[in-house]
Amino acid sequence: MNIQDEKFAEFEKLSNEEKVKYFQRNGHLFDMIISQQLNRQVIDDLFKITNQVRTIAKSKTGSIFLQGLLRHKRAMLYFTQPSSRTFLSFENACHILGMRTSEIRDSRVSSEIKGESFDDSLRTFSSYTDLIIMRHHEPNRAERAAWLLNSYSDRAVPVINGGSGADQHPTQAILDIYTLLRSFEYQGGLEHKTILMCGDLKRGRTVRSLSYLMKNFEGVKVIYAAPPEFQMRSDVIEFLERHKIPCTIEDKNLLNVLPKADAIYMTRIQDEHDKVSGESGKTDISNFKIGKEDMNKVKPNAIILHPFPRRDEIDVAVDSDPRAMYWHQERNGMWARAGLIAYIFNVHGEIMDY
Ligand code: CP
Repeated sequence: MNIQDEKFAEFEKLSNEEKVKYFQRNGHLFDMIISQQLNRQVIDDLFKITNQVRTIAKSKTGSIFLQGLLRHKRAMLYFTQPSSRTFLSFENACHILGMRTSEIRDSRVSSEIKGESFDDSLRTFSSYTDLIIMRHHEPNRAERAAWLLNSYSDRAVPVINGGSGADQHPTQAILDIYTLLRSFEYQGGLEHKTILMCGDLKRGRTVRSLSYLMKNFEGVKVIYAAPPEFQMRSDVIEFLERHKIPCTIEDKNLLNVLPKADAIYMTRIQDEHDKVSGESGKTDISNFKIGKEDMNKVKPNAIILHPFPRRDEIDVAVDSDPRAMYWHQERNGMWARAGLIAYIFNVHGEIMDY
């Protein structure tokens, strides 16, 4: 353990509330690391900014205006875990705002292969760029990056967590909430809705990050549908209890709870986190899938979401149903991430005034 490891171990003992303050500058979001950073005001601001970005970007004049906002900034995309959507939507979000981008998508082609530490690698990225967007297979690497740059570097550039191990994926939660709010805009909002999450809840970072946001919406109820082996971990359940959010566990069959849901959030089995090869395959997940024939059990105004990639937990025959919102959700990711970057760099005022 070096001195930085020791200091970070102390930082990790802080409560999430204390960490939230650490990831701010002058009370404004700086690093985006855990979804507990997102209160209702920030969620509503991001919703409005994202809507305005997507409207402005429709015209050539608007698109040129947006590209002028962060033309003087550069972003680093450091993704050492596979990604299609998060990588591409962030890259294109940067381009929408005029930022140039660099990337490392495999630590074997960075100097980490020569023995450079994670900390030194991150400081190197911050030497050349103004924003680091990162995905890592370990749960606390984005947190470490933000802590390191805030504590030790004279170039403390913002860090955005694009997925950390089986722990959190806060920008996925931002685009999920954006999609939920847009979908329920004329149905009384997200308040008092029932959100059903299904699949590998134990190791799915998207459902964990989304669950933390539920405290911002009055009267929301949560249902977790998964076999016992993949049920939501106790830390998130305790969080919901602390915030008095009713939570039902269904571990037999998705169909038992499907008719109750206003939003159905499906996820795949996260077998990349198996401790032993083939471990996940031993659990029967056949009762936790949606086929075309199940759609008559879904409420007429409900929506179906999926962070993707999917396997067979939603049959492609469901895609043509108007309640299937996942392809819109995927595209929303680019706009929501552009909105987030604009907010972090404080250019959202210009966007809202356009
Ligand atoms: N939703 C999501 O994180 O997708 P990717 O793994 O393709 O980035």
